[in-house]
Formats: sequence, C-alpha cells, structure tokens
Amino acid sequence: MENILEIRNLRVTFHTDNGVVRALNGVDLKLRDGETLGLVGETGAGKTTLAKSVMRLISPPQGRIDAGEILFGEVDILKASQADMLSIRGNKISMIFQDPMSALNPVITVGEQIAEVIREHESLPSKEAWDKALKMLSTVGITADRAGDYPHQFSGGMKQRVVIAIALACNPTVLIADEPTTALDVTIQAQVLEMMAELKKKTDTATIIITHDLGIVAQMCESVVVLYAGEVVESGPVRDVFKKTAHPYTIGLLGAIPKIHLDEHRLHPIHGLMPDPMAPPEGCSFHERCDFADESCALNHPELRIIGDSHSVRCPKAVSR
Ligand SMILES: Nc1ncnc2c1ncn2[C@@H]1O[C@H](COP(=O)(O)OP(=O)(O)O)[C@@H](O)[C@H]1O
Ligand SMILES: [Mg+2]
Repeated sequence: MENILEIRNLRVTFHTDNGVVRALNGVDLKLRDGETLGLVGETGAGKTTLAKSVMRLISPPQGRIDAGEILFGEVDILKASQADMLSIRGNKISMIFQDPMSALNPVITVGEQIAEVIREHESLPSKEAWDKALKMLSTVGITADRAGDYPHQFSGGMKQRVVIAIALACNPTVLIADEPTTALDVTIQAQVLEMMAELKKKTDTATIIITHDLGIVAQMCESVVVLYAGEVVESGPVRDVFKKTAHPYTIGLLGAIPKIHLDEHRLHPIHGLMPDPMAPPEGCSFHERCDFADESCALNHPELRIIGDSHSVRCPKAVSR
C-alpha cells in the first residue's frame, strides 16, 4: 500500500523564557492509505506537537520546526504555500482535538456548523450543504431533529460526535484524532470509539489515533508508533509490537504482557518520570528508567533499527523474536 503521509526526521522546539523545549527529536512516521495508526506515549512525549506539525499549527516565534519533511502526496507540508495549506487543512487533512468544546462555536447550531464547513470546502448550494450536514449527523448517530440545537444542549459524548462529523464532513484523506475520547466518561468513550470503528469501515479514511490507551490501539489500529521524549522508540504492525514487544518502554507500557489482552489495556505505571525536555540526558533517553540499562546506555544514543517486517526499535539490546 502507498504512503499517504510520510514524516521524516521531524524536529520541533519551543523557545520559552525558561529554555528550549525539545519536543520532537527526529521523528519518522509512515501512514499508509486506509490505515489506522495508533500514536502512543505518556503526557509530554510530543504527540500533540506531531499532530499540530502536520496541520502546520506550530506557531512561531515560540514554536519552531527546525528540520524535517512532512510529505502529503507530492506536497511537503512544511514548504507548502498558505494557499495550499488552506486547501489541505480541515479539508484533505482533518483534526479532532481532545476537548470538543474548543472546536465548536457555542452560538451556532450544530447543523449549521457542519453545513458551513461543507459549503466552504465544496462550494455546494445552501440546501444541499444542509442535507449533507444532516446525513453527516446521522452517520455519527445523531438524529436530524437535533440539527437545530446548540452545542450546550448536547452531552460531552454527543458534542464529540458533532466534532467528528465536522472533521469528516469533507471526506478528508487523513484524519488525526488527538485523544478523541480522553475528556469523556468511560462508558461514553466506548460508544464514541465504537462509532469511530464503524465509520472507519464505511469511509476507509487513513487515520492517526493519538492515545495513551493501548486497548484502543489493540481494538482499532493496524500499526502503532510509540513515542518517548520526542522520539520514536518502537513502531510496527500492532500484532508484532504487542506480541514481539522489543523496547523496554513498550514492555513497561504493556505491563510486560507480550500478548494482546483486551482487558489489560490500562497503562501500567513505569517507575520514574520522562526526562526534562529542556535537559535531555546523554545516551538513551529511557536509560534512567530502564531495568535493562547498563553503562553504555548512559553514553550512547541508540538509533532506530529494523528488527522485523516494518518493525523498528530504538534499543541495541532488543532482539527480534
Ligand atoms: N506552546 C508550547 N510552548 C512550550 N512548550 C510546549 C508547547 N507545546 C508543547 N510544549 C512542550 O512540548 C513537549 C511535548 O508536548 P505535547 O506535544 O503536547 O505532548 P503530548 O501531546 O504527548 O502530551 C512537552 O514538554 C510540552 O510541555
Ligand atoms: Mg497531547
């Protein structure tokens, strides 16, 4: 399958009064056509920064993309013109943020908000855009009679459905969902995820799901990228990464269970903290927390290397199984 999105050596820093935050330190990622990819990692790993880079929403002067390429078909997003970006962002590449309220306008009805996006991107006449908006609402499980309601009249889960409807309204080629269910109740989370899985079957949109929940990855994704301190530490097909887990950090995330256990999906806490992104340690960025580390891990920064079919790991000790 073809890569619909390819990130190469992406480096992003944030320049603050307290110092330089190294948010992404040379990240590579490939998303194939129609694939669902899980991007996992604990808070501060750089997941949102990656998503915002793809949407080119890293704002200077604080945020800087120091190196890298983000190839979307023929276009390098990092070099695209403003005009190109307007046609890509929210149209060919859509993003769902964690907090549904931040994406919705409180004073416009939900039907109108969806119709607006459709009109803007497809230059459809009003009536047709409205009809399509109603269709989108029903796709995400909201009946047409709610189209005239305002966001505050919906529950959190329903609001996130509206946000998803907006994101999918223009049939994007790529959808990036940044922790789409984290702000929701657990039962509602399951409903929204189920709905997303159903949509996925219908639309086949290539999707990056950002999450810290490995259960979601097991359930919904074909491949997974594990981010740690702004670096990919392991990536590959979900089956391989879950069954032949190679990186000590991933092993920690999976609670040392080398099989897919759907009911064992909560993150098992790993002792210690992620390093300060303003002062990353020498050597491997995980060595201070790693049960397998020796002196060389504190000195040498490991490269990402291939250990199986599309399965890569950033640890010299990991062996392929
Ligand atoms: N606008 C910003 N200014 C300064 N630091 C930022 C900014 N955005 C993100 N960071 C920092 O970059 C790192 C990665 O953040 P983020 O991409 O939000 O991680 P994640 O989404 O995985 O939790 C963190 O250390 C975070 O504090
Ligand atoms: Mg985030």
